[in-house]
Amino acid sequence: MKRFYLESYGCQMNVYDTQGLARMLEDHAFVRVAEPETADVVLVNTCSVREHAEERTLNRLAVLGRLKAQNPNMKLGVCGCMAQRMGAEIKKRVPRVDLVVGAQALPAVLPALEALDRGEKPGPQVEPLDHYLPPPRPRFDAKNLKGFVTIIRGCNKACAYCIVPTTRGPEVSRHPDDLVLEVHELVLRGAREITLLGQNVNSYQSAGVDFPELLARCGKVPGKWRLRFTTSHPRDMSREVMRRMAAAPRLAPWIHLPVQSGSPRVLKAMNRDYSLEHYLDVIEAAREAIPDLALTTDLIVGFPGETEAEFEETVALVERLRYDTFYAFKYSPRSGTAAARLPDDIPSELKQARLARLLVVQRRLAHEVNQAYVGRTLEVLIEGADSRRGHVLSRTGQNKIVVLEPQEIAPGTFRDATIERAEGQTLYGRLGASA
Ligand code: 5AD
Ligand code: SF4
Repeated sequence: MKRFYLESYGCQMNVYDTQGLARMLEDHAFVRVAEPETADVVLVNTCSVREHAEERTLNRLAVLGRLKAQNPNMKLGVCGCMAQRMGAEIKKRVPRVDLVVGAQALPAVLPALEALDRGEKPGPQVEPLDHYLPPPRPRFDAKNLKGFVTIIRGCNKACAYCIVPTTRGPEVSRHPDDLVLEVHELVLRGAREITLLGQNVNSYQSAGVDFPELLARCGKVPGKWRLRFTTSHPRDMSREVMRRMAAAPRLAPWIHLPVQSGSPRVLKAMNRDYSLEHYLDVIEAAREAIPDLALTTDLIVGFPGETEAEFEETVALVERLRYDTFYAFKYSPRSGTAAARLPDDIPSELKQARLARLLVVQRRLAHEVNQAYVGRTLEVLIEGADSRRGHVLSRTGQNKIVVLEPQEIAPGTFRDATIERAEGQTLYGRLGASA
């Protein structure tokens, strides 16, 4: 039995891939260990979305590589987006890396490990495999309650800043029968919340089934469980999806709809493929159609040429739309993308200041938005107790945490909770409907 250790960075699709990699190794007589020190094989599944993420990972790889001093037979492997983007460059930066397998070739990890065993030195595997088969679906751990299913890999958009179409290639949707089966299996194994994943789930299309139809089919899997999806693209988020969400209680009232900027000029420069008016229309329609909808978004500050006034348009948009929460990032040039040809002309301190400004707005808005929940009764999924005070943590369909008093209650059950107060991002409540 060989021991392997696995770390994952980046998005949830990477987490899904990592779990699949784990299963692939377990199916081939490897056992997973929790510490890299005791492993024969150490794998890191990586993210390229921002330079900062890559730098941190390179440092981490150097640290992991030093473990070879005690365990010279240990093999160090890099998978995923960085492997895909950097290829042989990774070994130059971290010479102790033995194996490089890109996000579009993950099943090649196993043959590469076998080649290493034979004493060969496999080159970086970054060519997409002819017949791409993702690693086997993850083994679900029932105590997680939450299952993830990647329904579509890759991305056909060409946002000027984004490395993903390079690292993950063009869109490939998985067969709907496979997906329904996978969802069914997860529910049977105890999943109570399932998230369908993709860079752009709305453009899912396979065997004549589009995304709304896929939602309908997955939603028919019996049992008490809830269904989410992420990420949606504003251009492709359809009224039909909204109608399904409104009609099916199974579908959680939450949409993550990255806008990236509130400036029409910047949106165009980002090649986002929608106008601000279109985005606002989509939000208006979604809010009208879906009761109690929670909305979240992603924002980038300091895109090349972003003026103070353009940044203020982003702040104004956030104020206007009152997102439940948002994730804001400093623009990071990624070589090979269209934006990398533009001068990265917003100084780092200014990006930082804009980010800080947004975070202040976010804290205030989150507080205000959450105050509106006080007194309301919402259905929550009991997730378990927090380790410090024994509070019971639960989650609403809107993806908000509700903290409940310590009590005996089985994780995985759905209950009604009445919200008593809101602090920042967190809601506090008690079980039962409001009096
Ligand atoms: N720089 C900064 N943020 C980025 N994102 C994607 N590419 C970049 C980049 N080059 C952000 C976007 C996206 C989120 C996952 O990461 O906001 O929605
Ligand atoms: Fe990172 Fe994007 Fe790759 Fe996910 S798809 S791991 S966010 S670069």
